[in-house]
Amino acid sequence: MKILVTGGSGYIGSHTCVELLNAGHEITVVDNLSNSSEKSMEAVKKITGKDFTFHKCDILDYEALTKVFDENTFDAVIHFAGLKAVGESCEKPIEYYHNNMTGTFVLLRVMREHGVKNIVFSSSATVYGVPETVPIKEDAPLFTINPYGSTKLMLERVLSDVALADKDMSVVLLRYFNPIGAHESGLIGEDPNGIPNNLLPYVSQVAVGRLPKVNVYGNNYPTPDGTGVRDYIHVTDLALGHLKAVEKKANVPGVHIYNLGTGQGYSVLQIIDAFSKASGKEIPYVIAPNRPGDAAICYADATKAKEDLDWVAERGIEKMCQDAWNWQSKNPEGFK
Ligand code: NAD
Ligand code: UD1
Repeated sequence: MKILVTGGSGYIGSHTCVELLNAGHEITVVDNLSNSSEKSMEAVKKITGKDFTFHKCDILDYEALTKVFDENTFDAVIHFAGLKAVGESCEKPIEYYHNNMTGTFVLLRVMREHGVKNIVFSSSATVYGVPETVPIKEDAPLFTINPYGSTKLMLERVLSDVALADKDMSVVLLRYFNPIGAHESGLIGEDPNGIPNNLLPYVSQVAVGRLPKVNVYGNNYPTPDGTGVRDYIHVTDLALGHLKAVEKKANVPGVHIYNLGTGQGYSVLQIIDAFSKASGKEIPYVIAPNRPGDAAICYADATKAKEDLDWVAERGIEKMCQDAWNWQSKNPEGFK
């Protein structure tokens, strides 16, 4: 297939480009590089030995995006482009709504004008808000507690309406749990700007000596060791989930919704321990106050993706930590 990947130079996008190319698909990438480096694109070419075109292009720019569609014939779009930091979205809601919502509106308009009927969208477990029960199935109640999450939930609805209005349209909504790890080559990985908000990049920056200690947000949750439990998934497994989704559901009209997680929860202290073992480094931590808005426990029921897409996450927590450490230790400053 010929696939347009928006946001393809970012963390999950670059790993997905690798798996699409390895599977023999042709790709074109658009990214405005607001949260990534073009170096990831060179690394993807090195890993796969395959070439593709990268456009430094903002999806808000109708003319620039139209030009990319005029010059190509796409069978499907995998849409990663978006801003993703929860805290920043509370400080800059207008920027988040504009970038994520308007960017997707422009993309959908250009897709319609060029007759492209298949889209796979990066949604998130954030659409489940603070879940009441686990494991979480796709039909659990949906609500959001921050502007970032609201963009995801609203875009799920927009995309569903688009599929309702056009009976030839296929929309796949992939709700990711907690992506971590890196490609096993150590050539691409997560490269957050500034001090990371998410646990794994924070822990790996402590291990490499860029940060002094981990703040564990609360040890009074109703979990075995009192710290928060999440469903961490290797980014390569997540990338393979996109491959399956686009191969199996493109040209199957309708809305297809899947959780992409392992179905297994790990606590903050278990993650620190696993990372310490993988890196051979001591990881100092302190117990800090609970982070507002955090759920105690969040993990997926991913059986729908297994049954419909023939996809399961295969890489365990040791591999996730080993690959994250391989990337971090080889690239202590990321792509900079
Ligand atoms: P990322 O920031 O590494 O990648 C997003 C990419 O989109 C970046 O390269 C950025 O430069 C680009 N981008 C942003 N706005 C753009 C615009 N207007 N035009 C063109 N490019 C633009 O993030 P990621 O972790 O790879 O996430 C990819 C997608 O998955 C995002 O939509 C994110 O919300 C979603 N998601 C991520 C996680 C996670 O934990 N990483 C979890 C659930 C969902
Ligand atoms: C967060 C976002 C979520 C987003 C997801 C992926 C919040 C409230 N939620 O989810 O919307 O989809 O990232 O980008 O921000 N922790 C620490 N110390 C740290 C960092 C995290 O103890 O320095 C703990 C958290 O309390 C949590 C776990 O580690 O229990 C995982 O945190 P994180 O990586 O931020 O992911 P989520 O909270 O699941």
